[in-house]
Amino acid sequence: MNALQGKHIVLGICGGIAAYKSVTLLRLLIKAGAEVQVVITPAGKEFITPVTLSALSHKPVVSEFFTANTGEWHSHVDLGLWADCMVIAPATASTIGKMAHGIADNMLVTTYLSAKSPVFVAPAMDLDMMRHPSTQANLALLASYGNHIIEPASGYLASGLEGKGRMEEPENIVSHLESYFSRTCDLSGKKVLITAGPTYEKIDPVRFIGNYSSGKMGYALAEECASRGAEVTLVSGPVSVKATHPGINTVPVESAREMLAESEKVFSHSDIAIMCAAVADYAPANPSDHKIKREHQDVPVITLVKNPDIAATLGAEKRDNQRLVGFALETDNEAVNAAEKLRKKNLDMIVLNSMRDKGAGFGVDTNKVAIFKADGDCVDVPLKSKSEVAVDIVNEIVKSL
Ligand code: PMT
Repeated sequence: MNALQGKHIVLGICGGIAAYKSVTLLRLLIKAGAEVQVVITPAGKEFITPVTLSALSHKPVVSEFFTANTGEWHSHVDLGLWADCMVIAPATASTIGKMAHGIADNMLVTTYLSAKSPVFVAPAMDLDMMRHPSTQANLALLASYGNHIIEPASGYLASGLEGKGRMEEPENIVSHLESYFSRTCDLSGKKVLITAGPTYEKIDPVRFIGNYSSGKMGYALAEECASRGAEVTLVSGPVSVKATHPGINTVPVESAREMLAESEKVFSHSDIAIMCAAVADYAPANPSDHKIKREHQDVPVITLVKNPDIAATLGAEKRDNQRLVGFALETDNEAVNAAEKLRKKNLDMIVLNSMRDKGAGFGVDTNKVAIFKADGDCVDVPLKSKSEVAVDIVNEIVKSL
């Protein structure tokens, strides 16, 4: 059965020349068995008529908050609740900005703000508007709220210029939605433990040993597992990213020992555990209760002790029906070191990222990884966003279940 069969889709159309492609998109969605409600901005109606859209969707098109002659109220709240997903195609710079900042001055943006479903945004604009820092910042904000950005393609633009800004082709937008819905339930009923972020090991009340992990990779994995129906426990070191999916229970911790204790509480009843945290291997043996003062002593010597290895501890307890996935962050001899960690920690899979690859590892929004499996198989994932890398990693885990 088609993954879009019977799905309720709100198609938001903004005022841009690519609105003509929304007609094809609408036809393809209807053909795939979806029920589509079109919501169009006032500017959108300058590019494509509601008559065409309502004829194809078999529903009146919604644009205003109420019908002037009858006073009939169009509830954006009801629409937001009805939707299994919302697709905004084309999304103009103006609407993207309003969505990012909650400027609810039309039916499309109010529906977006009311939607509880996943939202897909397909930008379309001239290349200079697309690469303007404000557009890029607004898109990054939308992505950080958990929206799915369907990147525009490069090519010939209505302005006569060539570059990135063409709305993705309707067929590809439909493929995005199909692949989203076909994988949405494959982790339903599964319990997943994920560790993310750095650990902080106290030196004194104001100083710690830590690392550059931002939590972005681990949080992307948590969002991906939750969106596929899993109940996720995210044991997280100190980070500024936030989990958005209601299926994620975030347990904040600071040190490796706290991370181990919280992970052990849930591991025995987890089906899958993904160890994405950058855990400090050592901690100060005797953290001071008071700030170590510069004036009162010689340069202090901080004696370190080994931290517990969380992945190896869980690996030793692992049952046959559980899957344990580790990460390896390496600077040299990458594949050999990753294979060694896979074996020593009794993992089923290890995801290798190298500090030598530009755009991979700590802090950045992208990653490039190789997934090594215990059976000797290896899958290379090229540089892409951490959310997309998370999809590939979770696909491999699902295959192994
Ligand atoms: O958070 P981001 O900024 O998005 O960056 C993502 C990341 C680079 C942190 C992530 O992709 C990553 O590689 N995480 C693992 C980093 C790491 O500590 O690698 P490692 O090779 O030192 O550890 C190997 C494995 O053992 C990891 O699964 C780690 O979680 C685990 N480990 C390590 C030490 C320890 N004491 N306990 C552990 O469980």
